[in-house]
Amino acid sequence: MNVNKSEKKIVILSGAGISAESGLGTFRDTDGLWEKYDLNEVATIDAWHRNSELVLSFYDARRTQVLASEPNKAHYALAELEKHFNVEIITQNIDDLHERSGSKNVLHLHGEILKGRSVLNDIHLYPINGDIKMGDLTPDGHQMRPHIVWFGEAVPRMLDAEEIMSHCDILIVVGTSLNVYPAAGLRYACPDNSVKFLVDPNNLPLGDQQFEHFQGTATEKIPLLVDKLIQEFKNA
Ligand code: APR
Repeated sequence: MNVNKSEKKIVILSGAGISAESGLGTFRDTDGLWEKYDLNEVATIDAWHRNSELVLSFYDARRTQVLASEPNKAHYALAELEKHFNVEIITQNIDDLHERSGSKNVLHLHGEILKGRSVLNDIHLYPINGDIKMGDLTPDGHQMRPHIVWFGEAVPRMLDAEEIMSHCDILIVVGTSLNVYPAAGLRYACPDNSVKFLVDPNNLPLGDQQFEHFQGTATEKIPLLVDKLIQEFKNA
């Protein structure tokens, strides 16, 4: 066992808010993506069948933004945490900012914008760093689509995420409005006796679960929380 590393497992449940300060929009804030686009036209499996070109162009624009963005201090602080704890990140985000900041264990519940897949299945994933157009085919000869979980589709990694969450000693929920299920229900898979933290400028209706609220933005509060956890481990 690495004596410089705690045995405690930290699970991070992240959402669009952690990437907001990297310039990537959230969905439900006042200036959010769903204020500018009708999600029923661009982010559902029915939308894909109805108007694939519109869906492809929506995600081409998201991909261009992600490629032009950089991780922020919150992403880097979470990567630092891995030097002292077993950290697993479960993210609803489709960007690669957690990975680019150095986090190693990242599970994308809603897919990854820099990957594509066949319309037939998500067994093979292909790197995508440009646009996807109608007529772009995967090696199996079928239309390429973004590797994104659309509304109306199953969340394939949900069981893996629940398994990770069930062994959590410390939970950090950052940058998610906890509006979208099943992801929003993951916090209930976390053991009752785990220590829970919320990082968000807003209060969230967390009901019966006790969270310590670091109220503020991710770049302001995640580094402070990471320092607190590392200091507590070193002084233990
Ligand atoms: N730092 C931290 N949190 C922030 C910041 C910030 N700088 N800015 C906004 N937030 C918070 C908001 O207060 C809100 O609680 O981030 C959260 C963003 O919530 P949403 O926009 O609903 O994003 P998210 O919860 O990730 O959405 C979940 O919805 O549309 C689907 O698939 C999409 O994965 C997405 C899912």
